[in-house]
Amino acid sequence: MKVTIVGAGAVGASCAEYIAIKDFASEVVILDIKEGFAEGKAMDLMQTASLNCFDTKITGITNDYSKTAGSDIAVITSGIPRKPGMTREELIGINAGIVKSVAASLIEHSPNVILMVVSNPMDTMTYLVHKTTDLPKNRIIGMGGALDSARFKYRLAEALEAPISDIDGMVIGGHSDTGMVPLTAHATRNSIKVSEFLSEERLNQVAEDTKVGGATLTKLLGTSAWYAPGAAVSAMVQAIACDQKKMFPCSAFLEGEYGLEDICIGVPVLLGKNGIEKIVNIELTEAEKAKMQESAEGVRKTNDLLEV
Ligand SMILES: NC(=O)c1ccc[n+]([C@@H]2O[C@H](COP(=O)([O-])OP(=O)(O)OC[C@H]3O[C@@H](n4cnc5c(N)ncnc54)[C@H](O)[C@@H]3O)[C@@H](O)[C@H]2O)c1
Repeated sequence: MKVTIVGAGAVGASCAEYIAIKDFASEVVILDIKEGFAEGKAMDLMQTASLNCFDTKITGITNDYSKTAGSDIAVITSGIPRKPGMTREELIGINAGIVKSVAASLIEHSPNVILMVVSNPMDTMTYLVHKTTDLPKNRIIGMGGALDSARFKYRLAEALEAPISDIDGMVIGGHSDTGMVPLTAHATRNSIKVSEFLSEERLNQVAEDTKVGGATLTKLLGTSAWYAPGAAVSAMVQAIACDQKKMFPCSAFLEGEYGLEDICIGVPVLLGKNGIEKIVNIELTEAEKAKMQESAEGVRKTNDLLEV
């Protein structure tokens, strides 16, 4: 199992670290455009191997895609992150060009690769990869919902004063401050609906805090977060590498599912050795259906800015 990560920045390095620590991949290649940067990150991470007990070989490369040849999975984190006060959508101008050329270079050297798109605005970048490559839809996956769901569970646990392992919940829809749809009506604590324990007002607060989870961290850190994004990517990469058929909300290309077409947006999917093995259709409440439609409109507005 060979995994390439493009972009050796905060998120890319965090992805490499978590993948290595879980020790399921034989090789992780990190590639960056900045001379020596990926090599440095790879060397630093390899010097944690004896301490963190992993055998995954991590190598760093400056922009030489021939070294990524034969990758089973490639994660695209290259591009600029947002600064405090920015929306993810504002990154489109720079990141669209980067994501398009990176995807083409990866596929040229690894025609069987499964691509995982992380760069923002992520749903639109995932759609861009669909529109500009010949990869089948099961091999193009956007990461956003797994992270947003982890943030949702964190906020639910906080509100319930419960351990996070007691909580289950999911966020679907667009990966944006306004587009996320936290499924509060479906969230549970030990299989009991959280609405049994929390008032509607408190649950709405949890949903709002979840939606601005990335912006809250960007304000605190001065740039966007990396630990939880890296952990979310590593869990999804592991599900594919180990053929786990695990369910994650991912940005997937829809052809009628959830009443939506010709769009990439967060929906529950099963991840296994073929990438997206199934889009899971869950029964949404009327309010959730309306929010999903509204979210899709937002994603389409950003997609319209693409020149494809
Ligand atoms: N989908 C999500 O849930 C999620 C979460 C966090 C961050 N992000 C996004 O991920 C991206 C990366 O964030 P970050 O914090 O790691 O940023 P960063 O600035 O720390 O790292 C980005 C790296 O990409 C490299 N790069 C730029 N152009 C490149 C190219 N053409 N080829 C190869 N490498 C290139 C840069 O040199 C830099 O090292 C941003 O767009 C950010 O918004 C998405």
